[in-house]
Parts: sequence; C-alpha cells; structure tokens
Amino acid sequence: MSALDRDGVAELVVAWQGSHGRNHLPWQQTRDPYRVWLSEIMLQQTQVTTVLDYYARFLVRFPDVAALARADQDEVMGLWSGLGYYTRARNLHRCAQQVVVEHGGSFPRTAEMLATLPGIGRSTAGAIAAFCFSERVPILDANVRRVLTRFLGFEKDLASSGNERLLWNEAESLLPQRNLLTAMPRYTQGLMDLGASICTPRAPRCGQCPLTNRCVAAKGGDPERYPVKTRRLARRSESWQLLVLRSSGGRVWLQRRPSVGIWAGMHCVPVFADSTSLRGYVASLGDASRISCNELQPFLHVLTHRDLHLHPVVVTGSIPNQPTEEGAWFGVDEWASIGLPAPIRKLLDSMQAQLW
Ligand code: ADE
Ligand code: SF4
Repeated sequence: MSALDRDGVAELVVAWQGSHGRNHLPWQQTRDPYRVWLSEIMLQQTQVTTVLDYYARFLVRFPDVAALARADQDEVMGLWSGLGYYTRARNLHRCAQQVVVEHGGSFPRTAEMLATLPGIGRSTAGAIAAFCFSERVPILDANVRRVLTRFLGFEKDLASSGNERLLWNEAESLLPQRNLLTAMPRYTQGLMDLGASICTPRAPRCGQCPLTNRCVAAKGGDPERYPVKTRRLARRSESWQLLVLRSSGGRVWLQRRPSVGIWAGMHCVPVFADSTSLRGYVASLGDASRISCNELQPFLHVLTHRDLHLHPVVVTGSIPNQPTEEGAWFGVDEWASIGLPAPIRKLLDSMQAQLW
C-alpha cells in the first residue's frame, strides 16, 4: 500500500471512534493505569458484557494496586472465579506485587517498561500506554490484527514470528502523527471497536467501515481470507476421574493443584488418570462395606487447547480424617471464597443443591 493511501487513515479511525465507537465503558472514564490495566487483563479473553460485573466487584474489593498486592492469592482467585484463563489471575496478583515492590506502587509510564511486568505482553502494554499516557505505540490483539491485515492486504503467514514482526512495523507506521494526547487513546480504542463491531471475523460490514475506500481486502472482495495463519494447534482430549470425597458433615476434600498446568494453584478435588487407579485408591481407604461409591454423569469441559472429559465419583461413608497426604476438608460456606475451577464449583454446587 502506498504512503498516500496510508496518509490520514489514523484520522479516519479517530473520527469514526468519536461518533460510532464505544465511549462509555467504565475503564474509559479514567486514565488511572491500575484501572486500565485491570480492564485490559480482564478483556484479554473475555467479552465486555461479562467483564463489567467482575471489574466493578474487583475495584470495590481492591481499589488500588497496593490493596491487590496485599491480598491473599486465594481471595484473588475467588474473585476471578468464572472468568476463566486463571493464569491471568495469578499474573495479575504477581504484577500488582511487582509494581509495589519494584516500582514504588506506581505503574511504569512507557509501553517498553510495562511489558516487563507479569501478564503484560506487547499489545496490552501498548494499550495501557496509549490510553493512560498517550504514548505513540501500536497494539495488535486479535481484533486489531484482523482489521490491519485486511486493510493492508497483508497476506504473509502470521504463524511465522518474522511476519508477525513485519505486521507490528506496519501497525507502527499507521499511528497518528498529530494531536497525540487525544488521538492516541481514540485511535487505539477505534481499532478495537472496528474489530469488535465492523471488521468481524465473518461477514465484515465493509459498507459501514470508515476505511472501506482504501481497504485492500474490501476491494479484493474476500476480506474473510485475512488474517493468514497456517499453523493449527492440535486439540488434545483428556479424561479425568474426579474423586469427590465427602465427609459425614458434608464437607469435601480439596487439594491444591500443582503450580503449573491446568488450573494451576487452584483448589480442586483429587484427580486420577483412570478409573482403575481411582478404584485402587478407594479400596485402600478400608472396609468396602462401610464406603459407598457413586459415579455421577460424566461431563465435558472445554479449555483453550484441551477437551477435558470429567468423570466424577462421589465417595461417602467411613473415610479417614486425612484421606490423602495433601489437602483439607472444606465446607459449603468455604467453596465460594477459595479459587475453584468453574466446572468443579458447579459440580459441588449442584451436588449440594440435590442434598444428597
Ligand atoms: N478489549 C480489549 N481492550 C478493550 C477496550 N479497551 N475496550 C473494549 N474492548 C476491549
Ligand atoms: Fe475490515 Fe471491510 Fe473495513 Fe476493510 S473495509 S477494514 S475488511 S470492515
């Protein structure tokens, strides 16, 4: 695309954002980096409508970065519970602590420094720096990648990191040149808004797009063929046996998951790879006539790169006080406040509701 075609593009996005973009989201009413950062992390893999509630609740409980840094990890996980992608919550907490310990409680003011913090990649760092400090830096999340590859007719394979870098350079070359104080936040939000509402993955509304006259993909007639990315992540499928040990008082035995892998660091019922090992474990608990074992309906839980087939087995009766080396008994009143993976919480809640 020629320099002439690029000239003024930023202004088009800025003007469109002002008249057609989203301007009343709570995190747009502030330039406080703590609030903007929190929203950007929540919005990374979650829709705006879902984020709104969580965002408000989080800010009530943790009004500033120091409050979040001081909090117990379990409480942070508990408040995050239901948003998914729990690595974000752990990084959120670590990031807050790093801001307090290494930056005196104030977020760094450049994208370059922001990107050194846990959970803040180049695009999130760019968004925070543009929104809060009007720094002239690009963003390139999935929505913006789609808008820019289409607009530019960028057909190189983004599976290659070299091509990804080229697209970053293109994104940089399109940034506003003037009135950066107001233009940078508007332009950044404008690209996000275009990606969310106009330049959608399927059936983009090119007729309503401010870029339509210069857009290579629109002229080509098949915008959906961008972005080009060949590599497919193979989805793996796993089957987990969930051991739900229930005490006579109605409490459930929970262990903390290992610090890496699925549901890292969260509380969960003990997991077995197959039913033979779960049955073997149950047999080791003691007198089979005093223990009852109940298989519940298996269910599917879908993660980013994994399908988890979950097979709950409820065990009640004469169970030792300390049935496994690690873990503790938790009552219904405690499930809500610790970090439980959403499907585990649902399982325990539904069992509770049935008063079995
Ligand atoms: N997704 C990521 N950042 C966003 C923002 N600031 N507004 C709306 N959606 C977003
Ligand atoms: Fe996307 Fe169509 Fe706009 Fe091009 S004209 S940026 S393809 S919505």
